[in-house]
Amino acid sequence: MIAVPRGAGDATRVVVRAHAKINLDLQVEGARADGYHLLRTLFQSLTLHDLLTIDRVEGPLTIACSHPGVPTDERNLVWRAAERLWECGGRAGPPHGVRVRITKRIPAQGGLGGGSSDAAAALVALDLLWGTRLGADRLAALAGQLGADVPFFLCGGTALGLGRGDVIHPLEALEPQHVLLVFPPFGVSTPEAFRWFDEDAAAGAARVAEDSGTAVGTGDCGGGAIRLGGLVRPVINDLQAPVARRHPEIADLCRRLRAAGAGAAAMTGSGSTVFGLFEDPAGAAAAAAALESSGWRTLVTRCAGREQARPAARLVWTRSSRIH
Ligand code: C5P
Repeated sequence: MIAVPRGAGDATRVVVRAHAKINLDLQVEGARADGYHLLRTLFQSLTLHDLLTIDRVEGPLTIACSHPGVPTDERNLVWRAAERLWECGGRAGPPHGVRVRITKRIPAQGGLGGGSSDAAAALVALDLLWGTRLGADRLAALAGQLGADVPFFLCGGTALGLGRGDVIHPLEALEPQHVLLVFPPFGVSTPEAFRWFDEDAAAGAARVAEDSGTAVGTGDCGGGAIRLGGLVRPVINDLQAPVARRHPEIADLCRRLRAAGAGAAAMTGSGSTVFGLFEDPAGAAAAAAALESSGWRTLVTRCAGREQARPAARLVWTRSSRIH
């Protein structure tokens, strides 16, 4: 038997990884008329990832997910990504001909961008499988329509996000770090975190921020610092104080991570996940064990570079699609 794959049109399956992210910092720089906020944020990919397996099948689009809590209909961003790509490819009616299976490892509603990353990975994989070949610029525009942080996931690695967080400037890689993630038992929805930010800003939030351990407008926020491109940058998330005011566990966790030797610790995105950066894997493991023993759920992962984290769809040819 000679196995000769003839092209994407013959492939029956595409497999693609969808990596998680943390926000190494996040500054809210203003509000837009459409309700979005203007951001300046440093994204960092993690080795932690979901896996998407997309099979060419007869019938309408279906999504299955290994995690029962994740919606598998049009509420899933992967569904919307497929719909938008189908339209852009000039195809009529609802998308059909593929089954998407999501192996979920990134916790939902944690500020790790799991749903957005899945959507970006689906765009890349379906663009290949369906042969739409939109090109990087149109894919990025489509990603931005799906959600503010979806464009970052087309890029991966370390990157600056401006605008809504959707204008992406790739940066040189952060020095490799071990990342301890701590998952509080509650999620925070992104609109809610931004609403709390606005409410606290209106009420004069400087005091609130100091009370919750993340002073605004001072050099050292207590969150530590990272070294990027030869510069030392403080780790500050402007959404952390409003969230920590409602959930004081967030500030406690940051303090515990710093006390355990993390070079920096903060909430990621709109929360609720808190991360600590460790140069030493043993330090991360020891801090994880201490937190686990007092009831916290943790996971140790690492920063991922662009080459690893950018979605790279892999075509799979099964026996039926080979030439015998
Ligand atoms: O774009 P995405 O669907 O991820 O955003 C969810 C919500 O988060 C928005 O509707 C908005 O309330 C809030 N958001 C914001 N400013 C941003 C990003 C998100 O206010 N830059």
